Amino acid sequence: MNTSITDIDLSSLKKALTTATLSQQMVSLASNTFRLAASAITRLQQQQQREAELASLAHLPEYSLEQVSWHDQEDDCWIVLNDKVYNVTKLIHNHPGGSEVMMEQAGRDATLAFRSVGHSIDTIEQVDEFLVGILPAKERIYLRPAK
Ligand code: HEM
Repeated sequence: MNTSITDIDLSSLKKALTTATLSQQMVSLASNTFRLAASAITRLQQQQQREAELASLAHLPEYSLEQVSWHDQEDDCWIVLNDKVYNVTKLIHNHPGGSEVMMEQAGRDATLAFRSVGHSIDTIEQVDEFLVGILPAKERIYLRPAK
């Protein structure tokens, strides 16, 4: 059989291309596997953090949204932030953002209003000084165990 130089070149080129494609597929498979593993670890860590936070709040009394709504006066003001109940009566007249914004949220879930202001990290870490309770499980949005 007569094999020309061009035939040999073509066959080596095909082999090289197949090897390159296979290597590319292996790299992509490895990177997908790595990404999946990283996101599984992140999910597990978030779940552990949520469970630890839930455990640390277990001693608090439960107040329903309706019960919170009874405290909507300047001398008796509660709000809900991230499923937790805060008695902010003492804060109203010392609040750097003013008493009006606070009274607009009195007796209500103020989570979105609080977040949209962009309170500083220091403030976010200090709100628990006003913590008095937690919403019952069926009314919670954020503090739920993972399914
Ligand atoms: C326990 C609850 C709250 C605490 C301890 C708190 C504390 C503070 C503090 C310390 C500041 C000064 C800026 C900062 O350091 O973040 C601030 C600003 C402010 N807060 Fe609150 N706040 C609370 C709830 C709320 C709620 C429910 C609202 C409703 C919208 C609100 C609206 C504002 C506004 C509008 C400002 C002014 C932001 C600015 O001038 O840039 N805060 N708050």
